[in-house]
Amino acid sequence: TAILLEDYAPTPYVTKETFLDFELQSEYTLVHSRLTIVRNEKSNSDSNTLILNGSELELLSVSIDGKVLTDSDYVLNSETLSINVDKDAFVLECTTRIYPDKNTALEGLYISGGMYCTQCEAEGFRRITYFQDRPDVLSVFTTRINADVEQYPVALSNGNLVSQTIENGRVIAEWHDPFPKPSYLFALVAGDLVCQEDAFITQSGRNIALKMYVEQENEHKCEHALESLKRSMKWDEEVYGREYDLDLFMIVAVDHFNMGAMENKGLNIFNSSCVLATPETATDEAFARIEGIVGHEYFHNWSGNRVTCRDWFQLSLKEGFTVFRDAEFSADMGSRAVKRLEDVSFLRQHQFPEDAGPMAHAVRPSSYMEISNFYTVTIYEKGSEVVRMLRTMLGEQLFRKGSDLYFDTFDGQAATTDDFVWAMEQVSGQDLTQFKRWHSQAGTPRLSISREFNESEKTLTISAKQHTPPSADHSPKEPFVIPVQLGLIDDQGRALQEITYDASYSSDNQVWLVTQEEQSITFSNLETMPVVSLLRDFSAPVLLMDDLSDQERVLLIGSDSNGFNRWEQCQIIYKKMILQGVTDSVDDALFSALESALKQLLVDKKVENAVKAELLKLPAEVELLQLSPKVDILAVAASRKRLMSRLAAALSATLTSLYQTLPVTEVYRFDSESVGIRKLKNELLELLILSDGDQYIERASAQFTQANNMTDQLAALRLLVKYGSEQVYQDALDRFLDQWESDAQVLEQWFRVQMVRTDDKALDRVSALLNHRLFEYQNPNKVRAVIGAFAMGNIEGFHAEDGSGYHFLGMQVETLDALNPQIAARLVGPLVKWQSYDDARGQKMKAVLTQLAGKELSKDLYEVVNKSLV
Ligand code: ARG
Ligand code: ZN
Repeated sequence: TAILLEDYAPTPYVTKETFLDFELQSEYTLVHSRLTIVRNEKSNSDSNTLILNGSELELLSVSIDGKVLTDSDYVLNSETLSINVDKDAFVLECTTRIYPDKNTALEGLYISGGMYCTQCEAEGFRRITYFQDRPDVLSVFTTRINADVEQYPVALSNGNLVSQTIENGRVIAEWHDPFPKPSYLFALVAGDLVCQEDAFITQSGRNIALKMYVEQENEHKCEHALESLKRSMKWDEEVYGREYDLDLFMIVAVDHFNMGAMENKGLNIFNSSCVLATPETATDEAFARIEGIVGHEYFHNWSGNRVTCRDWFQLSLKEGFTVFRDAEFSADMGSRAVKRLEDVSFLRQHQFPEDAGPMAHAVRPSSYMEISNFYTVTIYEKGSEVVRMLRTMLGEQLFRKGSDLYFDTFDGQAATTDDFVWAMEQVSGQDLTQFKRWHSQAGTPRLSISREFNESEKTLTISAKQHTPPSADHSPKEPFVIPVQLGLIDDQGRALQEITYDASYSSDNQVWLVTQEEQSITFSNLETMPVVSLLRDFSAPVLLMDDLSDQERVLLIGSDSNGFNRWEQCQIIYKKMILQGVTDSVDDALFSALESALKQLLVDKKVENAVKAELLKLPAEVELLQLSPKVDILAVAASRKRLMSRLAAALSATLTSLYQTLPVTEVYRFDSESVGIRKLKNELLELLILSDGDQYIERASAQFTQANNMTDQLAALRLLVKYGSEQVYQDALDRFLDQWESDAQVLEQWFRVQMVRTDDKALDRVSALLNHRLFEYQNPNKVRAVIGAFAMGNIEGFHAEDGSGYHFLGMQVETLDALNPQIAARLVGPLVKWQSYDDARGQKMKAVLTQLAGKELSKDLYEVVNKSLV
């Protein structure tokens, strides 16, 4: 049964104070709660029924104002405890028994390695005790933890430590969080952990203790996260005027975690792969991801915790905004152009397919069955694009005013996406009613642009047409507000002064606001036909189809002032050539034009090394499905490979000299310059292997042995696995395992890297890895590194003609569903988009889903599988 946005209503009662006492026993945990509950002023219901959520709980006792209730006083089912109360204010006490060591779903309280930890978002708290487990019920929490002091000397919860004593071999710690919060932000950790300490002084001069708790073996892996945290705290003060509010901020790393990390108030819990790093064990990519996620969770303290969500339909209110905040943070810390193009690639590879598939939903969905299935790229990444568009339309200063108003107005409250837009309307005077369709309508708009130059009038007219195909929810699509950032350029790449009298165009920020289904704009005073640089910085999440000629694109690659668009035009040409190679042969003239443009860029000292590396990367196969629906994905992969080899051969001389002149990064530093050098060097090495073979395989072997950092070592290993002989790559894998077996983070990379080899044995390899002594189905990171990497990264293996890859994934998903429904529902993702593939493949994928649908499934998996079959 679906939950509907339109059914939202405040509860008749609200919990104001929550006292929790956890007795952590070896076989089970007892949770005693004492809740202060009153009638809800916001509700106009006169119902006397208090409904508490609870699932997989053993209810041992429940009382109201000291009077023990009996079976006849309440109604208990597998999801709720309902009690009729004839009071306006009362204290409810309750004891439940739970079994954290049997909790493989990793929701609620569970054991990871030897430690207790929690994950309560979205609805995990109800697996701890009976509670109003919804984000619009905010209470002040006090938490007592009672545990064996030998095994669990460190016992943490939200807020400030009030007291800690040791009695009879038990540690008793009491924590108090003064900020009212919903239950999804609750956290508890207990274990034998070591602590790395640091401090941050806020802009108003308050001293904040920063504490990072990890298992002993990871003590040396904390520095980067702590440095990232301090940078985040400073950035949020400078860019958003937001200061931290408690005196203590804690980070904990755990090995078993369904997602990346969680913003629990004052006690952020991280997947260890998203927080632990040293140069020797983590790649540059991992360093960047950690910086971004540490920032993300920290920024939630305001966008999420101080201002939270009214209901889970509003999830993007905190996630979209916070992703936007972390993306800007990362852009400020590293290379802005590279961050933007990475994010756009990610959006196209993951969100566009989601928006075109059976799970398509709006940024603010209108219904769901299982909220865990809605922690999606649409809510997060498209949600961030929606916030970005608002900033583009308002400009930086008004946007900041709007965010100030939003935080001030809704501090301590549970808000909606409409509230956010309201604040932006207030400060800008703009009517954003139509803009809100980005929240309510799913689907990726197609934006077609055509131009007409009138020589005698000296005018250029640009016409836009927007169309959004119907998506899975069949809702009709009204036109979106599409901010198109553009620039006019002459044939030398010089920017032209644009003149237009159209109110839809703002020359301050060069944004043309397309609001109609069809709309045009005229620029005048143009001596010659300009080249138009369109949708700069990807100013709206649309599929753009323009009428630029190949020559114009090549000109933009060479000379657009917008770095993003230079890369974008290069991608467009790559895509065109890959598709040409699928049906026919690549246009030689186009190839040579791109070749000479790239040769120039590669030697241009003004172009960042990281951008050069990105210019040499071909678009992912799935992006071609968006341009040529149902194209044979294996033919695309083959054409893409041929193009890459041809490019490597054509550029060989330039690549070789570039490779030889790149400086060596002797001492590891994580700054955009060193990262750029390593990135380009390793990208070049792959192309050189393609063009010159053996000699560079040897280079890769040498780099693998000598590297003093994981970026270079893993890049080399990847190339050996991908291109080396059976002997070479097996040998490298064995040596890598010998070296890193005891390091959980590196071990994950060892599992993952094996999926890049694209011979016809991928399925054998993935099956063998599942039986490896170090593989564990209970650990989501390992599951993702093996099964996920196979299904998402090994096109040849997963999409094998005989359907064996699909069948394999179906079996794995079924196995995992019994252990961890969230992971199973996510892993089935590559199958549910069956309609995007050619019919023969699509039918094979669908057959696997149909089989799954006949089984007993979790709610999570049921929703995804069944929606994919309607
Ligand atoms: N709020 C977390 C974040 O984005 C995500 C946690 C969601 N967890 C889950 N099991 N659905 O930072
Ligand atoms: Zn988040």
